[in-house]
Amino acid sequence: MKAQISEAFLDTASVADRFLPIQSLEMDKINRYIDNIRHLPPAPTVAVQLLNLFSDPNRDVDRIVELVNVDPSLTAATLKRCNSASHGGGEPVTDMFQAVCQLGFYEVYCIVTAMIASQTMTQVRAKYASDATRLWRHTVTTAVTASLLSRRVHTVDATAFTAGLLHDIGKLVFISKEGITYAQMVRESGFYGSKLAIAEEQVFGFTHAALGARLLARWGLPENICTAVKLHHDPPATDEKSNGLAATVNFANYLAHKMIDGSTMAHACPQAMDLLELTPEDIPSLLQEVDKSLQGVQDLLQMHG
Ligand SMILES: [Fe+2]
Ligand SMILES: [Fe+2]
Repeated sequence: MKAQISEAFLDTASVADRFLPIQSLEMDKINRYIDNIRHLPPAPTVAVQLLNLFSDPNRDVDRIVELVNVDPSLTAATLKRCNSASHGGGEPVTDMFQAVCQLGFYEVYCIVTAMIASQTMTQVRAKYASDATRLWRHTVTTAVTASLLSRRVHTVDATAFTAGLLHDIGKLVFISKEGITYAQMVRESGFYGSKLAIAEEQVFGFTHAALGARLLARWGLPENICTAVKLHHDPPATDEKSNGLAATVNFANYLAHKMIDGSTMAHACPQAMDLLELTPEDIPSLLQEVDKSLQGVQDLLQMHG
């Protein structure tokens, strides 16, 4: 199925062209690349509306319930989470209003974000199960870490969680479009680091960070999330307070690699550490905290485990 581009979608795209830190030539290349993907998941319209609603302080539960009910996969995931062992006890919940109230906004928000990432992941999983499992584990770990770090730079934890979970969505797009060619590139260059970015630039003319950011902007995700995704491998400028989310995702990505892949290739970005007011001595306790938080999102981890 060819990606459908509606008029509203094109409006969003032109706004995104202005805010994303991507050169116009590179942007053209990325747009053409995305337009030629045959099996791109449809823009997650309902999920994006929900994400925007969650950032509205005057949101109301009825509107959230209404939107969750539009998408059967979201309804199923929300009820499943509500009735899972961690929230169980008593009669199973079947009413969405009750489920949203019982879980709370943050939990529902995490489910919505996970669905966006998961829909893209499913296509990869069919062909490259081991890569998909590893990438999913990495993105969930980054999301949980970003959420923990967010309070250090006064970023909303749910926004940090979303940016963390979606930061490598460009890799998923590359794998689903290029198949074995990209999987091989990742194996040769390493799962992360500058070698992979250089290889992507040479072959495609842009990195997975730029590709992911552009796709999310076209889907209508908020500007700060798209920018953080674009910058997740770049050192954030220390003089701008608005780079707090970018620093959070950058450092969360580093910690997730450190936890999952060992520390041989990962290097903490000093600028991100400065912005987050962290020192190397803080890292062992942070890793323990992340490990503890991951136990609370086992159902997310198992979605593609
Ligand atoms: Fe990345
Ligand atoms: Fe990553």
